[in-house]
Amino acid sequence: MDNKKITRILFVCLGNICRSPAAEGVLLHLVEREGLKDSVVVDSAGTYGGHAGERSDARMRRAAAARGIDLVHRSRQVREEDFERFDMVIAMDDNNYEALFRLAPNRDAQQKIYRFREFLRHHPEWSYVPDPYYEGHEGFELVLDLLEDGCATLIENIKKVK
Ligand code: 4NP
Repeated sequence: MDNKKITRILFVCLGNICRSPAAEGVLLHLVEREGLKDSVVVDSAGTYGGHAGERSDARMRRAAAARGIDLVHRSRQVREEDFERFDMVIAMDDNNYEALFRLAPNRDAQQKIYRFREFLRHHPEWSYVPDPYYEGHEGFELVLDLLEDGCATLIENIKKVK
């Protein structure tokens, strides 16, 4: 019998072309480095479906590639069934959180929703992951700094339940 615990994590932002696919890439990178590939499933989605099918924003891909992280995700909109498929649905900001809360079909689903800020250890000044879409290069670097911080915490948590 295979009783290995698998943690399924879905990151959610607005467009699913900047923050959440980067979160997926950062966490997968750490998962591979830590040899946890059999213990974790990672995906991302957006509350807005207007970019569905697109690759991540080229600025986000460039900034991630400079840190050794390849973003291969194609954008998709979050859907109600995601609350069945995933254990944790992690919102980048409060707007995403509220949109997820409205989409969640029941209380069990609502209890799977988290804010990314809950996992930040080294950025007490940030209560959300800011949308970099209309920002310059620094905006994308800040997003990656925040994501690396919070994803390190997620990895620690996954190791504890493994
Ligand atoms: P994301 O960034 O939510 O981090 O993927 C955005 C991408 C696109 C738009 C807004 C935010 N947009 O309005 O098209």
